[in-house]
Amino acid sequence: MNQQKLISWYQENHRILPWRDTKDAYKIWLSEIILQQTRVAQGLPYFEKFISNFPELKNLAEASEEQILKLWQGLGYYSRGRNLHFTAKFIVDHLNGDFPDSYQELLKLKGIGSYTAAAIASFAYNESVAVLDGNVFRVLSRFYGIDEPINTGKGKKLFENLAADFLDKSQPALHNQAIMELGALVCLPQNPKCIQCPIHTNCKARELDLIHLLPVKLKKSAVKEKFFYYFHLVQTEKLACYKRPSGGIWHNLFDLPLIEYSQKPSSDQLIEDVNHILGFRISKQDVNPNWEQTHILTHQKINAFFIRFEPNPQVEVKYLQPLIWVSKADLHKLPVSRLLEKYLHYIYG
Ligand code: ADE
Repeated sequence: MNQQKLISWYQENHRILPWRDTKDAYKIWLSEIILQQTRVAQGLPYFEKFISNFPELKNLAEASEEQILKLWQGLGYYSRGRNLHFTAKFIVDHLNGDFPDSYQELLKLKGIGSYTAAAIASFAYNESVAVLDGNVFRVLSRFYGIDEPINTGKGKKLFENLAADFLDKSQPALHNQAIMELGALVCLPQNPKCIQCPIHTNCKARELDLIHLLPVKLKKSAVKEKFFYYFHLVQTEKLACYKRPSGGIWHNLFDLPLIEYSQKPSSDQLIEDVNHILGFRISKQDVNPNWEQTHILTHQKINAFFIRFEPNPQVEVKYLQPLIWVSKADLHKLPVSRLLEKYLHYIYG
Protein backbone atom coordinates (compact mmCIF):
# COMPACT_ATOMS: atom_id res chain seq x y z
CA MET A 1 0.00 0.00 0.00
CA ASN A 2 1.40 3.40 -0.99
CA GLN A 3 -0.09 5.13 2.05
CA GLN A 4 1.47 2.67 4.49
CA LYS A 5 4.88 3.02 2.81
CA LEU A 6 4.56 6.79 3.04
CA ILE A 7 3.77 6.70 6.75
CA SER A 8 6.57 4.23 7.52
CA TRP A 9 8.99 6.48 5.66
CA TYR A 10 7.73 9.49 7.68
CA GLN A 11 8.16 7.71 10.99
CA GLU A 12 11.80 7.06 10.24
CA ASN A 13 12.77 10.25 8.47
CA HIS A 14 10.75 13.23 9.71
CA ARG A 15 12.25 16.34 11.19
CA ILE A 16 11.66 16.92 14.89
CA LEU A 17 9.69 20.17 15.08
CA PRO A 18 8.09 21.70 18.18
CA TRP A 19 4.56 21.81 16.72
CA ARG A 20 4.67 18.12 15.90
CA ASP A 21 4.76 16.71 19.41
CA THR A 22 1.60 18.48 20.53
CA LYS A 23 -2.13 18.09 20.08
CA ASP A 24 -2.69 21.66 21.28
CA ALA A 25 -4.78 23.31 18.56
CA TYR A 26 -3.52 26.77 19.55
CA LYS A 27 0.12 25.81 18.96
CA ILE A 28 -0.70 23.98 15.73
CA TRP A 29 -2.71 26.94 14.46
CA LEU A 30 0.10 29.37 15.33
CA SER A 31 2.68 27.19 13.55
CA GLU A 32 0.54 26.84 10.43
CA ILE A 33 -0.06 30.59 10.17
CA ILE A 34 3.65 31.33 10.61
CA LEU A 35 4.61 28.67 8.06
CA GLN A 36 2.36 30.02 5.31
CA GLN A 37 4.68 31.39 2.59
CA THR A 38 7.58 30.86 5.00
CA ARG A 39 10.29 28.19 5.19
CA VAL A 40 10.57 26.11 8.37
CA ALA A 41 14.06 27.45 9.16
CA GLN A 42 12.79 31.04 8.97
CA GLY A 43 9.51 30.35 10.82
CA LEU A 44 10.94 28.32 13.70
CA PRO A 45 12.43 31.20 15.74
CA TYR A 46 9.19 33.17 15.31
CA PHE A 47 7.18 30.21 16.58
CA GLU A 48 9.44 29.92 19.65
CA LYS A 49 9.22 33.67 20.27
CA PHE A 50 5.42 33.68 20.06
CA ILE A 51 5.03 30.65 22.32
CA SER A 52 7.34 32.09 24.95
CA ASN A 53 5.57 35.49 24.87
CA PHE A 54 2.07 34.00 24.56
CA PRO A 55 2.07 30.43 25.96
CA GLU A 56 -1.73 30.22 25.69
CA LEU A 57 -4.41 31.56 23.40
CA LYS A 58 -5.68 33.98 26.04
CA ASN A 59 -2.23 35.60 26.30
CA LEU A 60 -2.28 36.29 22.57
CA ALA A 61 -5.82 37.66 22.82
CA GLU A 62 -4.78 40.05 25.59
CA ALA A 63 -1.75 41.40 23.70
CA SER A 64 -1.90 44.66 21.75
CA GLU A 65 -1.80 44.56 17.95
CA GLU A 66 1.41 46.58 18.07
CA GLN A 67 3.09 43.98 20.30
CA ILE A 68 2.08 41.23 17.88
CA LEU A 69 3.20 43.10 14.79
CA LYS A 70 6.50 43.91 16.46
CA LEU A 71 7.13 40.21 17.10
CA TRP A 72 5.99 39.46 13.53
CA GLN A 73 8.44 42.00 12.12
CA GLY A 74 10.52 40.60 9.27
CA LEU A 75 8.20 37.70 8.41
CA GLY A 76 6.20 39.66 5.82
CA TYR A 77 2.53 39.22 4.89
CA TYR A 78 1.51 41.10 8.03
CA SER A 79 -2.20 40.39 7.57
CA ARG A 80 -1.34 36.96 8.99
CA GLY A 81 -0.30 38.58 12.29
CA ARG A 82 -3.36 40.83 12.35
CA ASN A 83 -5.74 37.94 11.64
CA LEU A 84 -4.03 35.87 14.31
CA HIS A 85 -4.79 38.56 16.87
CA PHE A 86 -8.36 39.06 15.66
CA THR A 87 -9.10 35.34 15.80
CA ALA A 88 -7.52 34.87 19.25
CA LYS A 89 -9.74 37.67 20.59
CA PHE A 90 -12.77 36.24 18.80
CA ILE A 91 -12.29 32.78 20.34
CA VAL A 92 -11.83 34.24 23.83
CA ASP A 93 -14.73 36.72 23.56
CA HIS A 94 -17.28 34.66 21.63
CA LEU A 95 -16.35 30.98 21.94
CA ASN A 96 -15.58 30.89 25.64
CA GLY A 97 -11.87 30.49 24.86
CA ASP A 98 -12.44 27.04 23.33
CA PHE A 99 -10.67 26.43 20.04
CA PRO A 100 -13.18 25.12 17.45
CA ASP A 101 -12.65 21.39 17.02
CA SER A 102 -13.95 20.54 13.56
CA TYR A 103 -12.90 21.39 10.00
CA GLN A 104 -16.21 23.16 9.27
CA GLU A 105 -16.07 25.31 12.42
CA LEU A 106 -12.39 26.15 11.90
CA LEU A 107 -13.13 27.36 8.38
CA LYS A 108 -15.40 30.09 9.80
CA LEU A 109 -12.47 31.79 11.53
CA LYS A 110 -10.72 34.79 10.03
CA GLY A 111 -7.37 33.91 8.42
CA ILE A 112 -8.17 30.18 8.31
CA GLY A 113 -8.70 28.78 4.82
CA SER A 114 -9.19 25.21 3.70
CA TYR A 115 -5.52 24.22 4.07
CA THR A 116 -5.15 25.57 7.62
CA ALA A 117 -8.53 24.20 8.74
CA ALA A 118 -7.58 20.75 7.44
CA ALA A 119 -4.15 20.91 9.08
CA ILE A 120 -5.56 21.85 12.52
CA ALA A 121 -8.53 19.45 12.29
CA SER A 122 -6.32 16.52 11.35
CA PHE A 123 -3.21 17.24 13.48
CA ALA A 124 -5.06 18.28 16.67
CA TYR A 125 -8.27 16.24 16.44
CA ASN A 126 -7.35 13.48 13.96
CA GLU A 127 -10.32 14.46 11.78
CA SER A 128 -10.30 12.69 8.44
CA VAL A 129 -9.66 15.65 6.09
CA ALA A 130 -6.82 15.90 3.57
CA VAL A 131 -4.42 18.86 3.54
CA LEU A 132 -3.58 20.42 0.20
CA ASP A 133 -0.62 22.80 0.12
CA GLY A 134 2.19 23.38 -2.39
CA ASN A 135 4.01 20.24 -1.27
CA VAL A 136 0.92 18.07 -1.63
CA PHE A 137 0.09 19.51 -5.08
CA ARG A 138 3.58 18.58 -6.21
CA VAL A 139 3.57 15.05 -4.79
CA LEU A 140 0.12 14.23 -6.17
CA SER A 141 0.61 15.80 -9.60
CA ARG A 142 3.78 13.73 -10.04
CA PHE A 143 2.55 10.54 -8.44
CA TYR A 144 -0.55 10.47 -10.64
CA GLY A 145 1.12 12.20 -13.65
CA ILE A 146 -1.48 15.00 -13.86
CA ASP A 147 -0.72 18.09 -15.97
CA GLU A 148 -3.86 20.07 -15.11
CA PRO A 149 -2.65 23.51 -13.85
CA ILE A 150 -2.84 23.62 -10.04
CA ASN A 151 -3.75 27.32 -9.80
CA THR A 152 -7.14 27.31 -11.54
CA GLY A 153 -10.55 26.57 -10.01
CA LYS A 154 -10.78 23.37 -12.04
CA GLY A 155 -7.29 22.23 -11.04
CA LYS A 156 -7.87 22.92 -7.34
CA LYS A 157 -11.11 20.90 -7.37
CA LEU A 158 -9.40 18.01 -9.12
CA PHE A 159 -6.51 17.92 -6.66
CA GLU A 160 -8.85 18.30 -3.65
CA ASN A 161 -10.67 15.15 -4.76
CA LEU A 162 -7.40 13.36 -5.41
CA ALA A 163 -5.99 14.32 -1.99
CA ALA A 164 -9.20 13.12 -0.32
CA ASP A 165 -9.01 9.77 -2.18
CA PHE A 166 -5.34 9.32 -1.37
CA LEU A 167 -5.82 10.12 2.36
CA ASP A 168 -5.32 7.22 4.76
CA LYS A 169 -8.61 7.65 6.63
CA SER A 170 -7.50 5.48 9.53
CA GLN A 171 -4.59 7.79 10.43
CA PRO A 172 -5.21 11.24 8.90
CA ALA A 173 -2.85 13.18 11.18
CA LEU A 174 0.13 10.99 10.35
CA HIS A 175 -0.79 10.77 6.68
CA ASN A 176 -1.04 14.55 6.26
CA GLN A 177 2.24 15.16 8.05
CA ALA A 178 3.88 12.46 5.94
CA ILE A 179 2.78 13.69 2.52
CA MET A 180 3.84 17.27 3.36
CA GLU A 181 7.17 16.05 4.69
CA LEU A 182 7.75 14.01 1.54
CA GLY A 183 7.19 17.16 -0.53
CA ALA A 184 9.49 19.18 1.74
CA LEU A 185 12.38 16.70 1.93
CA VAL A 186 12.25 14.37 -1.10
CA CYS A 187 9.80 15.35 -3.83
CA LEU A 188 11.55 18.71 -4.26
CA PRO A 189 10.64 21.26 -6.94
CA GLN A 190 14.10 20.90 -8.53
CA ASN A 191 16.22 17.76 -8.42
CA PRO A 192 13.85 15.59 -6.41
CA LYS A 193 15.49 12.69 -4.58
CA CYS A 194 13.42 9.97 -6.19
CA ILE A 195 15.67 7.14 -5.03
CA GLN A 196 14.80 8.02 -1.42
CA CYS A 197 11.07 8.20 -2.17
CA PRO A 198 9.07 5.39 -0.55
CA ILE A 199 6.50 5.38 -3.38
CA HIS A 200 8.70 6.01 -6.43
CA THR A 201 8.03 2.60 -7.98
CA ASN A 202 4.38 3.63 -8.52
CA CYS A 203 5.10 7.24 -9.55
CA LYS A 204 3.63 8.09 -12.99
CA ALA A 205 5.85 11.11 -13.57
CA ARG A 206 8.93 9.00 -12.97
CA GLU A 207 7.68 6.26 -15.28
CA LEU A 208 6.94 8.77 -18.07
CA ASP A 209 9.95 11.03 -17.38
CA LEU A 210 7.73 14.04 -16.58
CA ILE A 211 9.07 14.90 -13.14
CA HIS A 212 10.58 18.25 -14.13
CA LEU A 213 7.43 19.30 -16.00
CA LEU A 214 5.08 18.78 -13.04
CA PRO A 215 3.23 20.39 -11.42
CA VAL A 216 1.96 22.80 -14.11
CA LYS A 217 1.22 26.34 -12.96
CA LEU A 218 -0.32 29.12 -15.08
CA LYS A 219 1.66 32.36 -15.12
CA LYS A 220 0.16 35.17 -13.02
CA SER A 221 -0.06 38.82 -14.06
CA ALA A 222 3.15 40.81 -14.27
CA VAL A 223 4.73 42.45 -11.27
CA LYS A 224 4.16 46.23 -11.02
CA GLU A 225 7.16 48.48 -10.60
CA LYS A 226 6.97 51.35 -8.11
CA PHE A 227 9.27 54.15 -6.99
CA PHE A 228 9.02 55.14 -3.32
CA TYR A 229 10.75 58.33 -2.18
CA TYR A 230 11.06 58.14 1.59
CA PHE A 231 11.74 61.20 3.70
CA HIS A 232 13.80 60.78 6.84
CA LEU A 233 12.80 64.11 8.35
CA VAL A 234 14.41 65.38 11.52
CA GLN A 235 13.22 68.35 13.60
CA THR A 236 14.42 68.98 17.15
CA GLU A 237 16.00 65.51 17.19
CA LYS A 238 12.75 63.74 16.41
CA LEU A 239 11.76 61.83 13.28
CA ALA A 240 8.50 62.16 11.41
CA CYS A 241 6.55 58.94 11.02
CA TYR A 242 2.94 57.87 10.62
CA LYS A 243 0.78 54.82 10.98
CA ARG A 244 -0.17 53.35 7.60
CA PRO A 245 -3.94 53.30 7.12
CA SER A 246 -6.07 50.21 6.48
CA GLY A 247 -6.04 48.84 2.94
CA GLY A 248 -2.96 48.68 0.75
CA ILE A 249 0.40 47.26 1.76
CA TRP A 250 1.80 47.30 5.31
CA HIS A 251 -1.40 48.63 6.88
CA ASN A 252 -1.15 49.52 10.57
CA LEU A 253 2.64 49.37 10.41
CA PHE A 254 4.55 52.59 11.05
CA ASP A 255 6.41 54.23 8.21
CA LEU A 256 8.33 57.34 7.22
CA PRO A 257 6.44 59.78 5.01
CA LEU A 258 6.91 58.88 1.38
CA ILE A 259 5.90 59.95 -2.09
CA GLU A 260 4.96 57.13 -4.39
CA TYR A 261 5.40 57.02 -8.18
CA SER A 262 4.81 54.46 -10.91
CA GLN A 263 7.71 55.91 -12.93
CA LYS A 264 10.98 57.44 -11.80
CA PRO A 265 10.28 61.17 -11.31
CA SER A 266 12.60 63.96 -12.48
CA SER A 267 14.20 65.96 -9.65
CA ASP A 268 12.02 68.95 -10.61
CA GLN A 269 8.94 66.81 -10.23
CA LEU A 270 10.10 65.51 -6.87
CA ILE A 271 10.93 69.01 -5.60
CA GLU A 272 7.48 70.25 -6.62
CA ASP A 273 5.75 67.27 -4.96
CA VAL A 274 7.72 67.71 -1.74
CA ASN A 275 6.61 71.31 -1.57
CA HIS A 276 3.03 70.37 -2.24
CA ILE A 277 2.73 67.21 -0.11
CA LEU A 278 5.19 67.82 2.73
CA GLY A 279 4.94 71.60 2.83
CA PHE A 280 8.60 72.63 2.61
CA ARG A 281 11.07 73.52 -0.12
CA ILE A 282 14.13 71.49 -0.97
CA SER A 283 16.82 72.11 -3.54
CA LYS A 284 18.35 69.85 -6.18
CA GLN A 285 21.27 68.78 -3.94
CA ASP A 286 18.84 67.82 -1.17
CA VAL A 287 17.07 65.21 -3.25
CA ASN A 288 20.12 62.97 -3.45
CA PRO A 289 19.15 59.79 -1.65
CA ASN A 290 21.46 58.55 1.10
CA TRP A 291 20.27 54.96 0.65
CA GLU A 292 18.59 52.98 -2.11
CA GLN A 293 17.11 49.53 -2.04
CA THR A 294 15.02 47.30 -4.29
CA HIS A 295 12.31 45.52 -2.34
CA ILE A 296 10.23 42.73 -3.83
CA LEU A 297 6.67 42.02 -2.70
CA THR A 298 4.27 39.51 -4.24
CA HIS A 299 2.87 41.84 -6.91
CA GLN A 300 5.22 44.79 -6.69
CA LYS A 301 8.84 45.65 -7.24
CA ILE A 302 9.57 48.66 -5.07
CA ASN A 303 12.55 50.85 -5.85
CA ALA A 304 13.02 52.71 -2.58
CA PHE A 305 15.05 55.90 -2.14
CA PHE A 306 15.66 57.38 1.30
CA ILE A 307 16.34 61.09 1.59
CA ARG A 308 17.43 62.61 4.90
CA PHE A 309 16.46 66.22 5.44
CA GLU A 310 16.16 68.62 8.34
CA PRO A 311 13.39 71.10 7.62
CA ASN A 312 13.71 74.49 9.26
CA PRO A 313 12.23 74.21 12.80
CA GLN A 314 9.79 77.01 11.96
CA VAL A 315 8.25 74.97 9.14
CA GLU A 316 5.20 72.90 9.93
CA VAL A 317 5.67 69.68 8.01
CA LYS A 318 2.45 68.17 6.70
CA TYR A 319 1.55 64.88 5.04
CA LEU A 320 -1.33 62.85 3.63
CA GLN A 321 -1.70 61.14 7.04
CA PRO A 322 -1.29 62.62 10.54
CA LEU A 323 2.42 62.78 11.37
CA ILE A 324 3.83 61.61 14.67
CA TRP A 325 7.25 62.89 15.80
CA VAL A 326 9.19 60.25 17.67
CA SER A 327 12.67 59.83 19.07
CA LYS A 328 15.00 57.35 17.40
CA ALA A 329 14.64 55.03 20.43
CA ASP A 330 10.83 55.11 20.21
CA LEU A 331 10.85 54.43 16.49
CA HIS A 332 12.79 51.23 17.17
CA LYS A 333 9.92 50.03 19.37
CA LEU A 334 7.25 50.44 16.70
CA PRO A 335 6.34 47.74 14.17
CA VAL A 336 7.72 48.65 10.77
CA SER A 337 8.08 46.98 7.36
CA ARG A 338 11.14 44.88 6.56
CA LEU A 339 12.20 47.61 4.13
CA LEU A 340 12.16 50.35 6.78
CA GLU A 341 13.82 48.02 9.27
CA LYS A 342 16.71 47.59 6.83
CA TYR A 343 17.03 51.33 6.35
CA LEU A 344 17.06 51.98 10.11
CA HIS A 345 19.69 49.31 10.46
CA TYR A 346 21.76 50.95 7.73
CA ILE A 347 21.49 54.36 9.38
CA TYR A 348 21.74 53.49 13.06
CA GLY A 349 23.32 50.06 12.98
N1 ADE B 1 4.75 23.73 6.51
C1 ADE B 1 3.46 24.02 6.77
N2 ADE B 1 3.01 23.31 7.80
C2 ADE B 1 4.03 22.53 8.22
C3 ADE B 1 4.20 21.58 9.23
N3 ADE B 1 3.19 21.29 10.07
N4 ADE B 1 5.40 21.00 9.37
C4 ADE B 1 6.40 21.32 8.54
N5 ADE B 1 6.31 22.20 7.57
C5 ADE B 1 5.14 22.81 7.41
